[in-house]
Amino acid sequence: MAAKAKQMMQLVLSSSFTLPISSRLAAVSAVRVLYNHYPTKSLAIVRSVCRSISTDTNKKKTKKQQQQLKKKEKGLAKEKRRTRSLRDGDIEIENVEEDDSSTSAMMQQSQSHIPVMLSEVLDVFSSNSKPLCSFVDCTLGAAGHASAIIQSHPQLKLFIGMDVDPVALQMARSRIHALSHSHPHPHFQAFTFLNNFRNIKSLLRQVDHPDLFSSGVDGILMDLGMSSMQVNDPERGFSVLANGPLDMRMDPQSSLKAEDILNCWPDSEVGRILRDYGEESNWRLLQNKILQARLQGGLHSTGELVDVIRGVTPGTRGGRQGWVKTATRVFQALRIAVNDELKTLEDSLYDCFDCLAPGGRLAVISFHSLEDRIVKQTFLKIIDCSKESGDGSVEERDIGDLRKIKGDNNKKELWIRQTIQGRNGTILTKRPITPSEKEEGFNRRSRSAKLRVIQKVCS
Ligand SMILES: C[S@@+](CC[C@H](N)C(=O)[O-])C[C@H]1O[C@@H](n2cnc3c(N)ncnc32)[C@H](O)[C@@H]1O
Repeated sequence: MAAKAKQMMQLVLSSSFTLPISSRLAAVSAVRVLYNHYPTKSLAIVRSVCRSISTDTNKKKTKKQQQQLKKKEKGLAKEKRRTRSLRDGDIEIENVEEDDSSTSAMMQQSQSHIPVMLSEVLDVFSSNSKPLCSFVDCTLGAAGHASAIIQSHPQLKLFIGMDVDPVALQMARSRIHALSHSHPHPHFQAFTFLNNFRNIKSLLRQVDHPDLFSSGVDGILMDLGMSSMQVNDPERGFSVLANGPLDMRMDPQSSLKAEDILNCWPDSEVGRILRDYGEESNWRLLQNKILQARLQGGLHSTGELVDVIRGVTPGTRGGRQGWVKTATRVFQALRIAVNDELKTLEDSLYDCFDCLAPGGRLAVISFHSLEDRIVKQTFLKIIDCSKESGDGSVEERDIGDLRKIKGDNNKKELWIRQTIQGRNGTILTKRPITPSEKEEGFNRRSRSAKLRVIQKVCS
């Protein structure tokens, strides 16, 4: 082949190196045909084509670089809005020997749940200058946090725990009662209730303990969401990946199930739940598919619901990851509605704060942005004005005027970075604490966790 043709081939190959091999071969044969037909003009044509290939490639490269930059900036902004824990999450909870075989089977099951941000929670309640003599765990679960608190506070006199889930309560109860026997405080008492934390005030009234009447409790913990035992049991209907009934009740005594919402609630309510509680952009299409399913007898298992979700999540939206993410959002929406989680949380935060003794602390671990937003905003309202006082606009002005943000670096309490001080208390976490990288590595469930802490003003 003539030298000119060779030069053209080299030009094509060097400028199209980012293209797949099949396209490069096609380009080379096109050059050959071009040279045979137009030996004089062909070099100019090839040069111009090659220039456009390189421009396209550069454009693609810049787009990719821009996307990477955006991702990096997003990550940095996220980092700024939170405080990543530097603890390594290596605390181990001591196991208590039990001779009853049914109890030890339960113990083993409860150990499948790893308490989230355990070291951080212990820091919150151990480093306070006010000793922890009374403590309430609003969400006992497998009693991971509760056991560690009881074990690390020899001065603790009173422990109160509750959970709406009878299976969780039974597990937690045996664990806590086993610990009570060996507790160093001679007057240590533990009470456990099968109840919703929205009833915290009436439950504390039932506990006839002099310390509660004189002041209030020194510490309260809310570790929201589901336990691993609940997610891992397909019969509860919480799992996206295992087929089971469309239940999703934390409290099996309550009447509303996910199935009732999907098959009987008005269309607009189904849509609202998907949009507001699932933050699902595809909510309208999903709503229509759910309504269509009603015509064929409705949805009765999590598997059937997942099939509907997979049907509206095209492969281009991330394939399997795409539908799992959509399904997770839909399941979250239904769970929030079934258990009335957001309203219960907001009301209970006020009640928990009321139950605190002066200087007492309330710590809340949340697992999604809707919960975290409620905790953040309610804490802000709590520190400045009581729930009942004034109308909304006056409260807003008060918040602006009274809040003082302090860059605290208390030497004794290194976990505290920036605080917000108000009339009724102090928010000890201006930015939420999130798990350490190490914890995120060994406990996937912890990845979305955020810990916020408020302290009641010392009278
Ligand atoms: C994440 S788990 C708690 C795990 C626990 N901190 C541990 O370390 O083992 C949350 C628990 O809170 C319970 N729960 C959720 N909402 C509740 C509510 N409104 N009142 C009482 N318990 C609730 C659930 O049944 C579940 O057992």
